[in-house]
Amino acid sequence: MDLLFRPRRLRTSETLRKMVRETRVSKQSLVYPLFAVDGEGIMEEIPSMEGQYRYSLDQLSVILNQLTAAGVSKVILFGIPALKDSCGSQAYDDNGIVQRTIRYIREYYPSVYIITDVCMCEYTSHGHCGILDGEYVDNDKTLEYLNRIAVSHARAGAHMVAPSDMMDGRIRSIRLALDDAGYINVPVMAYSAKYASAFYGPFRDAAGSAPSFGDRKSYQMDYHNRKEAIKEVELDVAEGADIVMVKPALSYLDIIREVSDISDVPVAAYSVSGEYSMIKAAAKAGYLDEEKTVCESAVCIYRAGADILITYFAMDLARYMDEGKIG
Ligand code: PBG
Repeated sequence: MDLLFRPRRLRTSETLRKMVRETRVSKQSLVYPLFAVDGEGIMEEIPSMEGQYRYSLDQLSVILNQLTAAGVSKVILFGIPALKDSCGSQAYDDNGIVQRTIRYIREYYPSVYIITDVCMCEYTSHGHCGILDGEYVDNDKTLEYLNRIAVSHARAGAHMVAPSDMMDGRIRSIRLALDDAGYINVPVMAYSAKYASAFYGPFRDAAGSAPSFGDRKSYQMDYHNRKEAIKEVELDVAEGADIVMVKPALSYLDIIREVSDISDVPVAAYSVSGEYSMIKAAAKAGYLDEEKTVCESAVCIYRAGADILITYFAMDLARYMDEGKIG
């Protein structure tokens, strides 16, 4: 056979396959979501997310020691307050759970890079991501609260803020508020293309943030849409976003690809709670090989165009990278 092209030639050995890989992964781009809860002596496993826990401040060293030992140096913080009210006041309280957690990490784990989730749903009694006007989330009123939350996170020492509420105009509003308060170098990572997704189910269980009525479809995106994601990304970049995000990740690889093709800022992908729990449950049942599935899905998210990966599997992935299973 005079075959000129034999693509298999580059697949003949592990050494060669590793040499010609198109996608490289690095621990530097991993971000681990961390749930901090008000109270003491709490390290409770999240029932729908085996292996993931909520930590009170005095227990946080358990996970922070593990993360730093594994070489995962970035966290995104979520707070679960003891008190919720209609305007989510614990979210912007300088002594709120997230603000105290930031100060603790800054003091005892100075090498950890702290990103904070800026949103109201974990803090409001109704579980929506903003201030209600009847049953509608009032966009412009919510912006004032988001500004306060972001500034109080920065004041506590957050390195980066990540608004996840999907209100219109929030990136500009938060950028101006941060600048006004003197935090010109605190970047904003925008949850730009955040879809109204059933894959957030386990997170809402973890954070106690399920809406008490209705759903989030009047602010999060409809999963039938693709161009709308581009519109959201373009708006956020124009409003000053430093990084844009697509969320969820695995069912939205096409969106990650398109966003990465058009945007000139780094792209983050959030592999959400439901993606984690699906793999965990299938592995537990013996249906899937957990390690291989975790490696493959993470690499595929990067291959789609993600520069940054937010994932509950961050520590596992760091280990797989060390072991040369992906890289
Ligand atoms: C909102 C927020 C949510 C997630 C991150 N930020 C939940 C929601 O929009 O209902 C989901 C994360 C996950 O599922 O892992 N504060």
